[in-house]
Amino acid sequence: MAEQQRKHTAVSLRGRKGGADKIVALTAYDATMARLLDEGGADVLMVGDSLGMVVQGHATTLPVTVDEICYHGRAVARGTTHAHLVGDLPFMSFQVSPEQALLAAGRLIKEGNFESVKLEGGVVVAEQIHRIVAAGIPVMGHVGLTPQSVHRMGGFRVQGKGEDAALAVLADAQAVEQAGAFAVVVEGVPANLGRRITERLHIPTIGIGAGPDCDGQVLVCYDFLGMVRGFAPKFVKHFAEIGEQIVDATRAYGRAVREGSFPDHAHSFGDAGSGEAPGHTAAGVDKVASYGPGREER
Ligand code: KIV
Repeated sequence: MAEQQRKHTAVSLRGRKGGADKIVALTAYDATMARLLDEGGADVLMVGDSLGMVVQGHATTLPVTVDEICYHGRAVARGTTHAHLVGDLPFMSFQVSPEQALLAAGRLIKEGNFESVKLEGGVVVAEQIHRIVAAGIPVMGHVGLTPQSVHRMGGFRVQGKGEDAALAVLADAQAVEQAGAFAVVVEGVPANLGRRITERLHIPTIGIGAGPDCDGQVLVCYDFLGMVRGFAPKFVKHFAEIGEQIVDATRAYGRAVREGSFPDHAHSFGDAGSGEAPGHTAAGVDKVASYGPGREER
């Protein structure tokens, strides 16, 4: 099977620790975007609770619910063929107890069509991770800058600066590994700490603002596509300027509608009964639903 044809799993991703083949991860929140990112070769698609900020427009990730993660998970799963699907356990869906965490993780798998779950925290959530993994659900950890702790951190601040703080993040990452996680996201730490954690762990590290030495990288899809306006964290790089293209396209569409040049004949349907020639779409036929799933329901 060709490299980009395979289905990525928690087991195959775990096996890429330390290899040259870095793990390419992105967030996704809907089927259309998922289909494009999957076709582009993303190994992992995450429905992160970042959806609270970039989809719902909140200032933090805190309001997101398990139901919302599941809703977006089902959509992303319908658009995904090869990537491994990770669902985020949102704030207050797992912190209370291992039992609460297991019930929420189970819902993500059963109702969200996810293949693994991610949760924020280290030493304090090790029991939760252990309990979820014991039930057969792969877990991805998340240490360093953990956005669900925004108020404790005093904002979205780089973590692990200075040796004591660095050792605390390292201890969190090791606790996540010992609890049975198959990989861990390392967010918002100095690059040298990202390297130390990667060297110390036996599971892959997936960095976001953690320097170049992690075993993989993840970015929010709207960030790497240049669709988020305003402040961008230092670790965000635009690999396209889709935001500008959307604004330009909207202006062009608005001009065409206002001046009456759209829709023209080529984009209008004919009426067979009137003897008028049928309109032709780009596909050459009068076809109305061009964006249905056209695939098996998942
Ligand atoms: O919520 C999220 O999207 C995340 C990823 C960026 C790792 O946690």
